[in-house]
Formats: sequence, C-alpha cells, structure tokens
Amino acid sequence: MVCTVVVGGFFGDEGKGKIVSYLALKDKASIVVRAGVGPNAGHTVHYRGKTYKLRQIPSGFVYEKARLLIGPGVLVNPEVFLKEVEVTGAEGRVGIDKYCAIIEQSHIDRDRREKHLSGKIGTTGSGCGPANADRALRVVKVAEQIPELRPYITDVPLEVNEAVDRGDVVIVEGTQGTFLSLYHGTYPYVTSKDVCAASACADVGLGPKKVDEVIIVFKSYVTRVGGGPLEGEISKEEAKRRGWYEVATVTGRERRAAPFNFKLAKRAIMLNSATQIALTKLDVLFPEARGIKEYEKLPTQAKEFVEKIESELKLPVTLIGTGPDCKEIIDRRFEV
Ligand code: IMP
Ligand code: MG
Repeated sequence: MVCTVVVGGFFGDEGKGKIVSYLALKDKASIVVRAGVGPNAGHTVHYRGKTYKLRQIPSGFVYEKARLLIGPGVLVNPEVFLKEVEVTGAEGRVGIDKYCAIIEQSHIDRDRREKHLSGKIGTTGSGCGPANADRALRVVKVAEQIPELRPYITDVPLEVNEAVDRGDVVIVEGTQGTFLSLYHGTYPYVTSKDVCAASACADVGLGPKKVDEVIIVFKSYVTRVGGGPLEGEISKEEAKRRGWYEVATVTGRERRAAPFNFKLAKRAIMLNSATQIALTKLDVLFPEARGIKEYEKLPTQAKEFVEKIESELKLPVTLIGTGPDCKEIIDRRFEV
C-alpha cells in the first residue's frame, strides 16, 4: 500500500486522526500530508498517554520519521499552525506549500458575525468560509507572503509526487466528512469546499492515478455539529444514555447523534471510490470490545455488526477502532 487517502464518510468527527496516526506508525509513512479545508477541522490523537487536538499539522506526526506537509488547497491560520508545530515538537520536518491561503482575523470576524454563517449554517467560526470566498475572488494572501511561515515553505505537490514515484508510503489526510462537502453534502449546511477523496488529492497535487487505496472512515454511530438534516437523530438524553454524547474538538459545541446510517455510507463509498472501510468507536456500541486487537476476540454482536456493514456496503472493514489510543485497533488489512 503506497499511497493511501483517508476520508470521512459521514459529517466529520469519524476518527480520522486516530486512523491516520495508527497508519503512520504501523506503515512507517514517509510523508503524511494534510488535505481538506483548514483549521475548522479538529483531529484528535491519543498517543503515549497524551491527547493532541490538531487543526493543521497532520495526525501522522506521532511517527517521528514522517515528513509532515500541508497541501496548497488547505487554508492556514499562521497562529494555529505555529502553535501546533511547538506542541507536536515537529519543527524541522514540517512543510507547507507556498500557495496555502491564509486565514486572517477579518475572516474569523466575518465567520462569527454573519448570521447566515454562525446562526443558520452553524459554522465553526474559524474563518474558513470567508477565506475560501476571498480565495475564489483572488484577493486572499498566500503562505509565501507571510514572513513567519517562510522557514516552512516547500513545494508540496513535488515532494508528494516524488515520494509516491519512489514507492514510499504516503498518507493523504482528508478532513471533515462526505456530507459536509460543498458539492455532495446537505447544501447549504455544508463546509466551504468539496472534501471527498478526489478533492483531497487535488489539495495536495496528486492526480487520480497515483492513489492505491481510499480508506473511508465511519464511526459506529453518526454525529453532526451545526445545522442541517440528521436522519434518525436521537435526543441528548438518549445520546448520553448510549454513550454517544460528544462535544466538538474545535468549538466545544455538543454533537448531535444518530445511529449508523447505511444509506449514507453506501453513497459515501460511491462518492469517494473507497476501497476499504475503517470503523471507529466499536467499543462505544459494544463495551466488551474495548482494547481488543484481534478480530476473533470481539464479542459476537460486535462481529455481527461488522459483518452487516461488510455485506450491505460490499467493502471490507479492514481497521476497527476499539478504544481512544492510536494503538487500540484491529488491523485486518493483510488478512486473506
Ligand atoms: P465551516 O466549515 O466552519 O464553514 O462550517 C460549516 C459546517 O461544517 C458546520 O456545520 C460545521 O459544524 C461543520 N464542520 C466543519 N468542519 C468540521 C469538522 O472538522 N468536523 C465536524 N463538523 C465540521
Ligand atoms: Mg473533528
């Protein structure tokens, strides 16, 4: 498995950070490159007893030899970025493309002030929508214009393509989820660009023939923050009872919750041409699954749930999250 794209199959917060951090360590990634919108995404990584909430630096930072890149399609908030370089201790192996568009305070102000965005859509208030709008108008600043970012500037598409051509392990880390896509999501309750696998590739400068695997991440139940439809939504009390109650990484807002949605999952697989499924938080549905690393040891009901997903969606579930730590996972990728 040389070049793998990891994307979200529902509304974000599926656990992409955990999957990417595991893959980077396990497969000894040479490059982990972040695609997607920008610092509206919060990817959580639990590693060696510490929790990291990353909005810019790729979750693969846990593998200390991995080069960490941000593709030109991704928005950068310099303050958030520089802080994360410090927190992850990744200085020296981080690179961003000169064309990454820059989020300024005015974008954040607009995102939080405009009723349509903060009220109706329920955006994260991170300035991403207004910055992408300015980008489309071709008035946004780009990374090479910001002195503090100069030491990190690199040609990300060139680095990524050369690594793939050498046969190195490259992981493209998508953000958000399929149904937050500006094109394929529940418009207008969506983010400010497409976030499917093809766009993740475009974000980092990879053409469609360079990708070997597309791993789509589904959580064992569905959550959504902000406005927009959520089929089968349960009450907050019920979510708490089931252990599905979560708060958002970036905004601290409560996440709405619903059961696993097979119809959406099927469509997400189509839209991303996914080749494998990563299923996260199986231990939340089946507490006896907690920490298990071998498929055979899962409780029967948990196995039945996995088998139902495989038979309905016609794709193998190759990675199964059984706890928050990045190593609490069942890896079936190499099973025959
Ligand atoms: P924006 O991306 O901040 O413009 O927000 C648009 C919609 O996408 C809102 O419903 C947000 O809650 C949602 N959203 C954006 N990024 C994420 C994410 O990383 N996880 C979950 N929801 C997100
Ligand atoms: Mg998140």
